[in-house]
Amino acid sequence: MPTKVAIVGQGYVGLPLAMSATGAGHTVLGIDRDEKLVASLNSGTSFIEDIPDSALAEAIKNGYRASSSFEDISDCSIVVVCVPTPLDEKGSPDNSILVSAVHSISNFIKSDALLIIESTIAPGTMRRVVAPIVVDKLGNKEFDLVFSPERIDPLNKKWNLQNTPKLVAGMNDRALARATEFYSTFVSEVVPGSSVEVIETAKLLENSFRFINISFINEIAIMCNALNINVLDVIEAAATKPYGFMPFYPGSGIGGHCIPVDPIYLASAAREAGSPSRFIELARDINSAMPAHFVGRAVEKLGSLSGKKIIVIGVAYKANVADTRESSSVRIIELLKSAGANVSWHDELVKNWRGEKSSKLSQDFDLAILATPHDNIELDALGSVPLIDTRGAN
Ligand SMILES: NC(=O)c1ccc[n+]([C@@H]2O[C@H](COP(=O)([O-])OP(=O)(O)OC[C@H]3O[C@@H](n4cnc5c(N)ncnc54)[C@H](O)[C@@H]3O)[C@@H](O)[C@H]2O)c1
Repeated sequence: MPTKVAIVGQGYVGLPLAMSATGAGHTVLGIDRDEKLVASLNSGTSFIEDIPDSALAEAIKNGYRASSSFEDISDCSIVVVCVPTPLDEKGSPDNSILVSAVHSISNFIKSDALLIIESTIAPGTMRRVVAPIVVDKLGNKEFDLVFSPERIDPLNKKWNLQNTPKLVAGMNDRALARATEFYSTFVSEVVPGSSVEVIETAKLLENSFRFINISFINEIAIMCNALNINVLDVIEAAATKPYGFMPFYPGSGIGGHCIPVDPIYLASAAREAGSPSRFIELARDINSAMPAHFVGRAVEKLGSLSGKKIIVIGVAYKANVADTRESSSVRIIELLKSAGANVSWHDELVKNWRGEKSSKLSQDFDLAILATPHDNIELDALGSVPLIDTRGAN
C-alpha cells in the first residue's frame, strides 16, 4: 500500500532507494544535512552514476522531494536511515553520525511509525544503541524497529536493488511484517532474518568474505610477480573449475565506503567480545601494504624516484565511478611524493580532487601507474612511458 516515506541520507544508498520507492508509488521525502545536495536534488541534478537526471526528474514529478529539515518526517509512516558509518581517524568504527541522525529522527517521528536502519552496523548496535535512543525519546517500548542492510553495488548492470534479495530483521514481528510489505513493493525477494544480530553479522560476513579474498589474491599476485608468472592467466585457468572456486582479481588495495570499512566493524566487535579475527586483521595488513608494494615496483623500474615524473591513472576507488572514498591511489601518491617523485594524476571521471585537476596523459612521464582502469582511458597517449598495471597485467 503506498505510504509516505522519509529516507535520511541521500547518498549512494539513500538516493537509489528513494528512486525505487517513488517508482513503486510511495511519496518519498529525501532528508540530507547537506543543503547543497538537497538543492541540487530538488533542481533535478543527480550526482550518482546509476541515477540519471531523467530518473530524478521523473521521481520529482511523482512526488519525490529532498529536504534538510527533520521536522518534515513528522507525517511519515516509514523512516529509513542511510547515513554513513565510517571509521574514525584511528581506524575504529564511528557510529556518531548514525547516533546523531537517530536522535534527530526521534525528535519528530510518529510513535506508530516504522524506523528502518540500512546503514551498515556492528552486531548489537540495533539493540544496544539505536533502540534505547528511540524508546527513551518516544517512551514507547513497542516501537517498530527494523534492520535491513543495503547490498547495492554501484554500476553493477546485473544486480540492482530490485533483483537482489533484501534481508530484513525486525525487533518485533509487527515491524518485520511492515518492512516486508514495504520492500516487497519494489524488491523481488524479501528474506526475513531470525534476529537483528544475525542480519547485522550477515552483512559484515558478506563484505569480510570479499575483503579477505581480495587480500588473498593480492598476496598471490605478489607471489606470482616474484615467480615471474602471469597472475591473470593463473586466475583464468583456476576459474575453469565449475565448483568450489570463485575468481577475485588483484589491485592496488581496497577502496570505497564498504569493503575496507565493514570488516573492521566485525573485527572490532569480535575483539571486544574477546575473540579477535586474525583473518580480517591479516587481510587489512596485506591490503594496506599494496600501495607500498607498487611504489617498490616503481623503484625497481626507475631506481631513485627523486625528481621522477610519475602519473597515477585512476584515483576513484573503482572503475567507472567518480567516488574517491578510501581510494588506495591516495596512499600511492603520498608514498611516491615522500620518495621525492613529481606526481600527477589522471582521472577524467573525478576531474577535480584535493584542489588539483586531472592531468592529461602524455609521453612526458618517466612512469605511469594504472591504479583504477576506467573504460576509455587512452593509454596509447603514454607512448613508450613504462606502465605498472596494479590489476595484475604486469
Ligand atoms: N555505497 C555503497 O555501495 C554501500 C553499499 C552497502 C551499504 N552501504 C552503507 O550504507 C550507508 C550509507 O552509505 P552511502 O555510501 O550511501 O554514504 P554517502 O556518503 O554516499 O551518503 C550519505 C549521505 O548522508 C548524509 N548525512 C550524513 N549525516 C547525516 C545526518 N546526520 N542527517 C542527514 N543526512 C546525513 C550525507 O550528507 C550524505 O549525503 C553506510 O553505512 C554504508 O556503509 C553503502
